[in-house]
Amino acid sequence: MSLIELNNISHYFDKPDGQPLHVIEQVNFKMENGEIVALLGQSGSGKSTLLRILAGLIAPRQGTVMYQSQPVYGPVQGIAMVFQSFALMPWLTVLQNVELGLEAQKIPAAIRRERALKAIDKIGMDGFESAYPKELSGGMRQRVGFARALVTEPQLLLMDEPFSALDVLTAESLRNDLMELWHAQDTQMKGILFVTHNIEEAILMADRVLVFGSNPGCIKGELKINLPQPRNSQDPKVLTLIDDVYKMMTSQRLGTIKAHVRIQTKVGFDYRLPDVGIAELIGLLEAVEELQQKGPVDLPLLADYIRLNIDDLFPVLEALSLLQLAHVSEGDIAMTAEGQEFLNADITNKKILFAKLLLAHIPLAEHIHSVLQAAHGEKVSEKEFEQELEAYFTEDEAKRVLATMIDWGRYAEIFAYDYNSGLMSLEDVN
Ligand SMILES: Nc1ncnc2c1ncn2[C@@H]1O[C@H](COP(=O)(O)OP(=O)(O)OP(=O)(O)O)[C@@H](O)[C@H]1O
Ligand SMILES: [Mg+2]
Repeated sequence: MSLIELNNISHYFDKPDGQPLHVIEQVNFKMENGEIVALLGQSGSGKSTLLRILAGLIAPRQGTVMYQSQPVYGPVQGIAMVFQSFALMPWLTVLQNVELGLEAQKIPAAIRRERALKAIDKIGMDGFESAYPKELSGGMRQRVGFARALVTEPQLLLMDEPFSALDVLTAESLRNDLMELWHAQDTQMKGILFVTHNIEEAILMADRVLVFGSNPGCIKGELKINLPQPRNSQDPKVLTLIDDVYKMMTSQRLGTIKAHVRIQTKVGFDYRLPDVGIAELIGLLEAVEELQQKGPVDLPLLADYIRLNIDDLFPVLEALSLLQLAHVSEGDIAMTAEGQEFLNADITNKKILFAKLLLAHIPLAEHIHSVLQAAHGEKVSEKEFEQELEAYFTEDEAKRVLATMIDWGRYAEIFAYDYNSGLMSLEDVN
């Protein structure tokens, strides 16, 4: 009997215009007793949505979730969730926050208290029962988040980026404590499924790593990690696996971009421009230049060199590929001739070259530019473009894509933007 099983899960949200936004497509997945599984994927690929579906918090539009062979139709006793944001009630003490985990179950107050105290003790927060969240550090708050999940004695623990709001050392100590609890086997836990952006974290903790692809989200690849615990981040076997996951993620990344390029020559209006600033683009190109003596640069090496984690690195790689400033494939990055020219140019020529690349490769840039040209000096509200984008994205996402476009376009001086009025115009018309 599997611990949890997803059969043909698909999900969409309704966009403001009533059209569906497909976020998850045809996900099939089984988790066995005794497994720790990590889910890695781009921002916005639908990982949190999938976790909520697993927990019974969202009903999928299609497919079924089976928990211990029973169909899931709503929140399930036996599945608990830990959130990145801790999600504690500021007006309740640690003890009250942990007891809250048991509120849904009809448990006598005395037993509730006893179980909460035990959970607090297990996760190393003994002595802080009467403290309020604001008195605690981030790491201690997340321990309360864990205690609130553990108090329900879950068999399946779901965690949505549980360590990513914490500094490196705090994250490591909490991770180690969790792994110790898992191995000590004095909890009811039979499985842990967690979302992370940190490849190293996935490889250190998990028995299996799933790579999640975007647009819409689906499982693109899977890697079994057959190394004994505890694992060491400097172990050559761990380093090789990190490299393998990078390769898996970049080849898929490029796959998506190539597919767009082949079919439409360019990406369409519906393309989620990566949320990346110009300084980041230039910074990454500079790092590549420093590292590339004779050939393409290994991405793990690059990530390590600039101390970025995956969530920050991949959008930059995507933007560089999109603008053809660099090629990314099989875990390597190489600068293109345009990339090198851009990097060598002075600031004025950088802008001119960037403008050319934007207009050539990003239809949205070309579109905004031509609308502004046709306006003959009249300013155009950003709202107009935002509304156009809402045909493809949710309202928030449309705003975000337009903000990136404006940022890039202003740098390239293909249009001007007034922050206070939200009005846009051609750069040379004032
Ligand atoms: N309640 C909602 N209504 C409409 N759209 C939503 C809703 N929740 C999520 N989305 C959209 O679904 C997509 C997937 O979101 P989700 O939060 O699952 O991604 P994620 O992989 O967890 O991202 P991140 O890594 O940034 O946490 C996004 O485009 C998001 O804007
Ligand atoms: Mg998420």
